[in-house]
Amino acid sequence: MTGESTVAGFDAPGSAAVAIRRALSLGPSRSDQASKHSKFDPMMDGAVVGVSSREGASVTHQKKIGIAVNFVVLSHACANLCCADMREVDMRGRLTGKRCLITGAGQGIGRSIAEAFHAEGARVIASDLRAEYLRGLAGMITVPLDVTRTADVMEVAAQHPDVEVLVNCAGYVAVGNVLSCTNEQFDTSIAVNVRSIMNMAKAFLPGMCLRNKGSIVNIASVVSTTKAAPDRFAYAATKAAVLAMTRSIAIDFIKQGVRCNSISPGTIDTPSLSTRIAAASDPERARAALVARQPLGRLGKATEVAALAVMLASDESCFMTGADLVVDGGMSL
Ligand SMILES: NC(=O)c1ccc[n+]([C@@H]2O[C@H](COP(=O)([O-])OP(=O)(O)OC[C@H]3O[C@@H](n4cnc5c(N)ncnc54)[C@H](O)[C@@H]3O)[C@@H](O)[C@H]2O)c1
Repeated sequence: MTGESTVAGFDAPGSAAVAIRRALSLGPSRSDQASKHSKFDPMMDGAVVGVSSREGASVTHQKKIGIAVNFVVLSHACANLCCADMREVDMRGRLTGKRCLITGAGQGIGRSIAEAFHAEGARVIASDLRAEYLRGLAGMITVPLDVTRTADVMEVAAQHPDVEVLVNCAGYVAVGNVLSCTNEQFDTSIAVNVRSIMNMAKAFLPGMCLRNKGSIVNIASVVSTTKAAPDRFAYAATKAAVLAMTRSIAIDFIKQGVRCNSISPGTIDTPSLSTRIAAASDPERARAALVARQPLGRLGKATEVAALAVMLASDESCFMTGADLVVDGGMSL
């Protein structure tokens, strides 16, 4: 088992780890028991193992759920620290001065990310296919942009060569299985969910490499290789591609100072979700069914996804690349 040094760190008086243990209301360090665990127990020792290592005995398990659990554990720790020890600390300003571009920022998750970035001091460029959706985003540069149009994407990159953080959030949900999926639905899914990420990377990555600094955050989905859902044939295929592209970009540009991570939301209450629910034959039942598949008992909020995007955009996550953060109320467990 590797990672003992970090586990040992939990014993160090005055260390951040001790503060995290206190915030989590954990007892004294259980590093020895933790090291014997081959299964991940998010409640107690497993959390210590998960925080301590991405290698060793817990890795196989951790690869599936551990990154999410790690983040939940750390989030809880941070939240508790905020409430207790750090009550007076202002967490705003984590993106001060960073030029950040978000696609699909007109509504839903993208809009929440734009607002959260702005609140953290970022210089935000909010872009969306629908110019009218961008109204009301005060203090940000707003840019109408269809991410499937290569020339338009290159033009925006030429106008804003200093983008340090790129969030690829624009997305399209094709509803249907392999038999009902039309060629048009499939092609649109590829164009909006997959080719857009290549377009945006080709336009903005070179500048990041020149400055030896950049963070790309791709919004994927647990409906991908992580989990299957009925009637999401093209959607799942394209979101699986997002996970793969994230890891490819991460490994190819790690030496140029560019990080690339993804976020996989579960079911998040956004305008597009409401539209799909409203289109169902029995909308009330459709909403109840979506809630029922979330073990946490509710839909997610766009702000809960935005909080992870802030972390991935900021230097707090400077040791993370190629990771996928699952935020799904336990849907994929
Ligand atoms: N809501 C969920 O439950 C959920 C779950 C998992 C993943 N996601 C992903 O999160 C992202 C945002 O989802 P949401 O629910 O907030 O969606 P949404 O439909 O509410 O917002 C998507 C935005 O993207 C814009 N957009 C669509 N096509 C575009 C294009 N070609 N170019 C530029 N902008 C375009 C739309 O105008 C819209 O403002 C998507 O990638 C989606 O697949 C959402």
